[in-house]
Amino acid sequence: MIDYCSKTRTFTLNGKSFSYIMYVNEVGMLQNVYYGASVANDEYLTRVCAYGRSPKPDDLNRDYVQDYVPFEYGAYGRGDFRAPSAVIVRKDGFCASRLLYKSHKIYDGVPEVAGMPHARSGGKTLAVTLKDELSPAEITLNYTVWDDSDVLVRNAVIKNTGKEKFVLDRAYSFCTALPDHDYDFMRLQGRWANERIPETTPLGHGTVRIESSRAASSHVMNPFMALIRKNCSESTGECIGINLIYSGSFVLTAECSQDGNLRIQGGINELGFSWTVDGGDSFVTPQAALCYSADGLGHMSREFADFYRDRIINRQKAFARRPIVINNWEGTYFDFDREKLFSIIDAAAPLGIDTFVLDDGWFGKRDSDTSGLGDWFVNTKKLDGGLAAVAERCRKNGMKFGLWFEPEMISEDSDLYRAHPDYAIGKRGVEPCRGRNQLVLDFTRSEVVDHVFRVVSDILESCDISYVKWDMNRNITEFFSASLDAERQGELAHRYILGVYDLAERLTSKFPDVLFEGCAGGGGRFDGGMLYYFPQIWTSDDTDAYERTKIQWGTSLCYPVSAMSCHVSACPNHQTQRTIDFSTRGIIASLGTTGYELDPSKLCEKEKALVKTQIEDYKKIAELVLRGDLYRLINPYVDNYFCEMLVSKDKNHAYLAGERFHGVPCDYDMFFKLEGLDPDKKYMVKELGITAYGKTLMHAGLLLPRLPDFTGFAWHIDAV
Ligand code: DGJ
Repeated sequence: MIDYCSKTRTFTLNGKSFSYIMYVNEVGMLQNVYYGASVANDEYLTRVCAYGRSPKPDDLNRDYVQDYVPFEYGAYGRGDFRAPSAVIVRKDGFCASRLLYKSHKIYDGVPEVAGMPHARSGGKTLAVTLKDELSPAEITLNYTVWDDSDVLVRNAVIKNTGKEKFVLDRAYSFCTALPDHDYDFMRLQGRWANERIPETTPLGHGTVRIESSRAASSHVMNPFMALIRKNCSESTGECIGINLIYSGSFVLTAECSQDGNLRIQGGINELGFSWTVDGGDSFVTPQAALCYSADGLGHMSREFADFYRDRIINRQKAFARRPIVINNWEGTYFDFDREKLFSIIDAAAPLGIDTFVLDDGWFGKRDSDTSGLGDWFVNTKKLDGGLAAVAERCRKNGMKFGLWFEPEMISEDSDLYRAHPDYAIGKRGVEPCRGRNQLVLDFTRSEVVDHVFRVVSDILESCDISYVKWDMNRNITEFFSASLDAERQGELAHRYILGVYDLAERLTSKFPDVLFEGCAGGGGRFDGGMLYYFPQIWTSDDTDAYERTKIQWGTSLCYPVSAMSCHVSACPNHQTQRTIDFSTRGIIASLGTTGYELDPSKLCEKEKALVKTQIEDYKKIAELVLRGDLYRLINPYVDNYFCEMLVSKDKNHAYLAGERFHGVPCDYDMFFKLEGLDPDKKYMVKELGITAYGKTLMHAGLLLPRLPDFTGFAWHIDAV
């Protein structure tokens, strides 16, 4: 699936249904030829498709030629005036580069990306090394493809082959080119409690740029973009999705150049970034996953979902049944003691809940969000008998015990801060910006990471804990580390994320039986980097069953539903004040890793009975959530309904869940078409008592139920 033709110096990479072709042109530059649906490696492609965009030897020093070439990695200051992919600043300040092909190798497997999340296994990799003719830099571009996937993984490694150091002012993960710009640009934007809202705008000339400069992928913009053709729908038309496997400050851009073609690239955000590479050292950029789909956004999402489940998320966890948790945050906030927790546990167990997760407030001096972070020892005044007593109460009730941490943070009012004020990121003498009254620990320092590893390990070893919720509630400001030299302060944001990955790697390896759930004030770090360590992430602090239809829809564009932690919470909803009936809340939370976020001792008997049935029902569809294919049927941003469907890989089972938002008098009859079924299999839609062929359900469709405001429906469909 990766070929090299030495005659035309062409590389052809083939995935399941796409081809990616590039070649070394006459002057030795690596340029893109084609990225799209599978094609044959016909020789004419390099002669004709690259025609007019491929410089001849005489053109080398003509800037107007360089500016047209669809390079695979953009160089700075030598005639290509589009945004470069890397900027290499030498000792005297000179930073122009020209990248020429040096060598390549093709091998089985994936490249090593030490210390960073990466595609784990299989595949074939092409590594093309380009040499900068003006500096001692060699840039290796890695491309990994798999026979059974439409995802292509890329990154770049920049090596200093000289003796003197140079500084990278920018080092993107990938760059590619498309011959036209007739696409719209989709991103997932948002804010706290309203994350990953799809927004699509046309591309024009100039650059569309999305980014985060927060040292976290953020609530505001996800490291995902898609270029979509005007006719692209859920099930038809072309699109290319790009998702960075990275959790820090990022950038993704689409730049339409003067000849109408498109440069797309991205990686670590260059704002505030610089990285000194000593002679002989290399800088490794995070991986980016590119997905080509000829069959709409739905196919792209299913490819990303399979990619994450098969190749990013820890294999032991990706397909393992997840516990159904009860989390006490919205049930108690900081206001709890041992007896209150016991009453939650006692009330939850008979309902079929597997695990009690004790949220914020169990440690140090932590009765509000103004103090205590960093002091990871149990507050025995609040919890007589310590965590062991809570774990024991869970055990007696046949439940497991989980615990909340916010390992990357420190409160100024904490013993840790009093002992080590320098552990916090920031510049002494400069009043820090406080986010949620807290500061961020300096994870660029190994002694800080070691300390947190030790104290969190001690707690995890102190009693039977099978689940960790890893929160992170603020972004970095006053970027300054007491331990970095002046010239290396620009490395802080990336080094911080490397420190987070290091801690996550060490804790998940030391406690392989513990399920770690990611959380960042809800969905503030929902990205492929975190999924490498945490198979599921608390999707959003907004648990309203209407808002969640939109948040989960957006999130599913590039992440598997099994990665979305979705809880039923109490009403009126704490974020929106809306009241939605209990079963609808359960239905919307069933389209992910389900759980509860309330005080079960306060539920009435009818609600308790509903929890029991919801859990029994969820267990029947749990495999579909873990392994199924998602089809988004009715878009909540557009219609008065929301509807999604999960279909098993063998197409024998499906689960369809939806919600009607507003009741409309004398509403029209509306049919909607199912997707993903086998046209020639007969299915039974259990709740409707209908038996029909897949082709009938997919072409004639089913009638949408007329339901009161914000009411859900869930149907089970099985081959008969
Ligand atoms: C933010 C999280 O998203 C919530 O679920 C909860 O854990 C709080 N932090 C606790 O402080």
